[in-house]
Amino acid sequence: MQDNETSFLDSTTTQTTKRHTKPALPQTDAQQMWGGRFSEATDSFVAAFTASVGFDQRFAKQDILGSIAHATMLNRCGILNDADVSLIIEGLQQVQAEIDAGEFNWSIILEDVHMNVESRLTDIIGSVGKKLHTGRSRNDQVATDIRLWLRDEVDNIIALLVKLQSGLLDLAEQHTDTIMPGFTHLQTAQPVSFGHHVMAWFEMVYRDTERLIDARRRINQLPLGSAALAGTTFPIDRSITAELLGFEGICENSLDAVSDRDFAIEFTAAASILMMHLSRMSEEIILWMSAQFDFVKIPDRFCTGSSIMPQKKNPDVPELVRGKAARVFGQLLTLLTLMKSQPLAYNKDNQEDKEPLFDCVDTLTGSLLAFADMLPNMVPNKANMRAATMKGYATATDLADYLVRRGVAFRDAHAIVGKAVALAIDKQLDLSELKLEDLQPFSDAIGADVFDYLTLEGSLNARDHLGGTAPNQVRQAIARGRARLSKFK
Ligand code: ARG
Repeated sequence: MQDNETSFLDSTTTQTTKRHTKPALPQTDAQQMWGGRFSEATDSFVAAFTASVGFDQRFAKQDILGSIAHATMLNRCGILNDADVSLIIEGLQQVQAEIDAGEFNWSIILEDVHMNVESRLTDIIGSVGKKLHTGRSRNDQVATDIRLWLRDEVDNIIALLVKLQSGLLDLAEQHTDTIMPGFTHLQTAQPVSFGHHVMAWFEMVYRDTERLIDARRRINQLPLGSAALAGTTFPIDRSITAELLGFEGICENSLDAVSDRDFAIEFTAAASILMMHLSRMSEEIILWMSAQFDFVKIPDRFCTGSSIMPQKKNPDVPELVRGKAARVFGQLLTLLTLMKSQPLAYNKDNQEDKEPLFDCVDTLTGSLLAFADMLPNMVPNKANMRAATMKGYATATDLADYLVRRGVAFRDAHAIVGKAVALAIDKQLDLSELKLEDLQPFSDAIGADVFDYLTLEGSLNARDHLGGTAPNQVRQAIARGRARLSKFK
């Protein structure tokens, strides 16, 4: 019996050891981290196909900061001891130093930034490094990293937007009295102040900035602590991690936190609207730089020449920005489609969120860098703008309004002015160049003072209310714009 028992125990021990020993099969480095239940090595094509380290190493800094905060929180909650956490933090700092020095050996076999960093940490500090992942999953880790990274990029973008807007205010201020034709249907409509036109751009970009500031609030929420999808069994305190990382809130639901990328979609949507605005400004600048308009010049550093036509100076920067809007719109659709129909919670599909988001941020940042320098240095050709305003009967509405103030109904006034314009076209003159005798046959209401209203300055000054193009109003709009902008700084 004794013997039997001993042998039974022995054999049990042997069997147990056998069962718990990993099969002697080849394993990739990544499999060392999760391959306990696997019976063959990952196919090398599959390893490369599923890896994200080629692009997600871009947020290594955020990954390391997130890990330091996570380890600190584990320590404060009594889950990791002081000695372990100190080792982990020092090790992570060394990993960061290696990355900064360009000495880090990124391994595609280790799949992504998270496992590359963790594996190197364990190389450096030994098996204590393996404790870092306590109470955490790559699912909440990656969601945290992208949010931290995007938050920094949004701050950089907002700083560029503020620079652009302050340049627009300066440009507008120099040109409150510069007159240009305002267009509808790209046909001459009414005279406007160039400063007023520039302030229209300011308003567009201002709303874009507000949209990004608003989106930033929803980006800046902490997913960490959600672990794989359901939370963790350890007594963590997520408010510590949130505070350490500067998050202004904590994602309330673990399933949602690891899964949704709506914050990235929202950013890309705001970026798309912004690029749409930049493309509209680009289109105007391109038109205005043509020989036919000749309204503005931008510095040569934003233009290129033609290899065949020596006379050419092409507005490449605005043209490219107009074209790049298409990329950002495309990335918005990519992210929406990526998220569409994904069941809760994390799915590997989400790995595809990074490249579109990076491209969107890079495209937007580049476009804004160019615009923030180019637009404030744009020089209008005042004489050409004025001459163009004189061409298209831009003060016809002023004549109609003049008649209305003298008791003519607006529709009748419209018809009278139409006839006067036809006569002016016939005579190849502007309305202001017609004689009083030419005008009076169209209406008894026309007096000698009509010419005060037909000048370009008269036309501008008459639109003297909030939002109007009177230089006096434009100056006030600029002052209000400066005060509004100072809130973003
Ligand atoms: N590289 C992954 C991503 O970008 C990280 C999360 C992986 N999680 C997982 N359970 N495989 O989404």
